[in-house]
Amino acid sequence: MTVKKIYALAFCTLLMFCGCKAKEDNSGARPKGPTDTEEPGAPETPTDKPLKEAATYPVGSALTPGLLRNDQQYADIVKREMNSVTAENEMKMVALSSARGTYTFDKADEIVAFAADNGMRVHGHVLVWYREDALPGWVKTFAGDRDAWIAMLEEYIRDVMTHFKGKVASWDVVNEAFNDDGTWRTDCVWYQNIGQDYMDIAFAAARSADPEAILFYNDYGTEYSEAKRNAIAVEIEAMKFRGVPVQGVGLQMHISRHTTKNNLAASLRAAAETGLLVHVSELDVAINDINNPDPNLAYTQTLANEQKAAYKALFEAYKETVPAPQQFGVTFWGVDDNHSWLTNYPDWPLPFDRNYEPKPAYEGIQEALGGI
Ligand code: XIL
Repeated sequence: MTVKKIYALAFCTLLMFCGCKAKEDNSGARPKGPTDTEEPGAPETPTDKPLKEAATYPVGSALTPGLLRNDQQYADIVKREMNSVTAENEMKMVALSSARGTYTFDKADEIVAFAADNGMRVHGHVLVWYREDALPGWVKTFAGDRDAWIAMLEEYIRDVMTHFKGKVASWDVVNEAFNDDGTWRTDCVWYQNIGQDYMDIAFAAARSADPEAILFYNDYGTEYSEAKRNAIAVEIEAMKFRGVPVQGVGLQMHISRHTTKNNLAASLRAAAETGLLVHVSELDVAINDINNPDPNLAYTQTLANEQKAAYKALFEAYKETVPAPQQFGVTFWGVDDNHSWLTNYPDWPLPFDRNYEPKPAYEGIQEALGGI
């Protein structure tokens, strides 16, 4: 390691400890709540160019197979606008494996088939994640020493990636390994049973399962936590130094209408400085306040325009901050406001409204992309 690198690591570690305070984890599932049917007017300047053509990089959405099957308007938007897809839930461990060595690939395969039929890229989400509701019961009760946990993890990664080999171009190998204060997340079965190097082990297993797949580390909160974005950058540098085959950084970007362009750019810059690919992997812009939601909030033109500004800022910052060869793409966490994970209070987080019409947000994205 060069002296410069040692100084850089030490500096980043220092920043980690001085970083901003933890913010509430907003990655939880939300039960259904009140909805609102009023929609502010569609954009005044319609565009004929779909997002995938306006952008110089792939644009995608997280999808649900049931909607692809049963909701023609939903499927049509995806076909028209997107050239990349992610399974919102169907490639999580809880969805794929009900017992060790037993797999159910049907629903994930539906998404893969839809993508193949329409010439779209598939991004795999996710091989290793700590979240309780993403882990099958058999993993939560798995009894074995460290070696047994490693063997089980390697076996799972090998089996899943082998099934999707040649069909899934890239994977989130590990999701959310860090806390907002930049420390390692310890409320994680992989960390508890294997230790910090579960990360290296997972990436090595992924590389040997599919030498062609592009391998990502994915996380949220880097736009509001400097400590977290620095911790991730330090770890990525360290992984590269150790020869761990990490090739990309996924920034979830579950942002709000108040998120500033400065914060977005700082997050993107930290990821871009690793030299790896940068994927905005789960973009949505909450209108309600996720930490203190208003159950009676109404969707007004003013709020819609604030959201438009945040979407526009993200796409501008991506263009301005991430060098073109590192632009892996931008993926929305859904398609339309009627089918979002942000549903335990009213919200309208996506670029298409409940009637599948493009919103001001869509217009803002097009403006940033130069489509209009
Ligand atoms: C969410 C899904 O959108 C929900 O439907 C599910 O109930 C919970 O998971 N970060 C991630 C995604 O990496 O996998 C999460 O997806 C949203 C937060």
